[in-house]
Amino acid sequence: MAQPVRKAVFPVAGLGTRFLPATKIIPKEMIPVVDKPVIQYAVEEALAAGIEHFIFVTSDGKESIAAHFAEHAELEKTLKARGKATELSLVQAATLPSGSVHTVLQPEPLGLGHAVWCAREFVGDEPFAVLLPDDMVLSKTPCLKQLIDAHADVGGHVVAVEDVPSEKTNRYGILDVLSETGRLAKAKGLVEKPAPDVAPSTLAIIGRYVLDASVFRALDNHTRGAGGEIQLTDALNSTLADQSFHGLRFEGARYDCGNQVGFVEANVAFALSNPEMSEKLKPLLRALLNHH
Ligand code: UTP
Repeated sequence: MAQPVRKAVFPVAGLGTRFLPATKIIPKEMIPVVDKPVIQYAVEEALAAGIEHFIFVTSDGKESIAAHFAEHAELEKTLKARGKATELSLVQAATLPSGSVHTVLQPEPLGLGHAVWCAREFVGDEPFAVLLPDDMVLSKTPCLKQLIDAHADVGGHVVAVEDVPSEKTNRYGILDVLSETGRLAKAKGLVEKPAPDVAPSTLAIIGRYVLDASVFRALDNHTRGAGGEIQLTDALNSTLADQSFHGLRFEGARYDCGNQVGFVEANVAFALSNPEMSEKLKPLLRALLNHH
């Protein structure tokens, strides 16, 4: 029986250059999709999967991310006094229990592997989740919950995967698949951003992971990989002699809101997933499409 997964790491130290000038002052993760900042969707997904500790790996100027989840007593008092019960519940839903939020600074954006390594002291020696907030997943069962359930069965590293068009393998960590059972693909290796002609498969890792703590030891030597960055996939690869690695073809739809078109798509998809908003939005979208 695998150890329970209680801690989640949110690497949010990136520069968000694809969203300049919006991200000149505001962290990319604080930009809203429909009605909530992007980071809140990832935190809610983690909460719904039973996560108790939330570790934000941040950089200078991103203090607003942890602040967003702290209690705002003054605002709550004002909303209560004005009888604004709905608004009050929205504020409280964005508040995490005190003592459950931890922030660690990544001094330089040296890569995702380095960002995860920065959280090692908070995580300790237990399996943990990593969520990249840019990847948003609409699903019946929260994507991370699906991974944690699979991890309880198979242990080791379990990551969310989906098939990508072969011309896009050079944007993802790609699995070298050994065998498949139902939704689980057991991998014998990983390749970071392979060109289509050398990619071992089209099964790509998206921004949800449940990892064994042995990955921290693999990250200790700070080896640079693709793009000169310290890559999480390289570190995972080097643990595979001792750890199993499974990709889970999760149930749900993933939206990459780390680029501008994907961000607009995520807004439309999440708005359409709300029945009330969908009813009003559909005729507007149809009219727009007729005009363009
Ligand atoms: P990205 O490269 O997609 O995000 O990293 P970015 O750097 O913020 O965006 P652009 O490319 O400049 O627009 C994927 C995730 O890993 C985190 C990012 O914050 C993002 O959540 N990350 C990346 C770090 O925390 N530290 C790093 O050194 C690199």
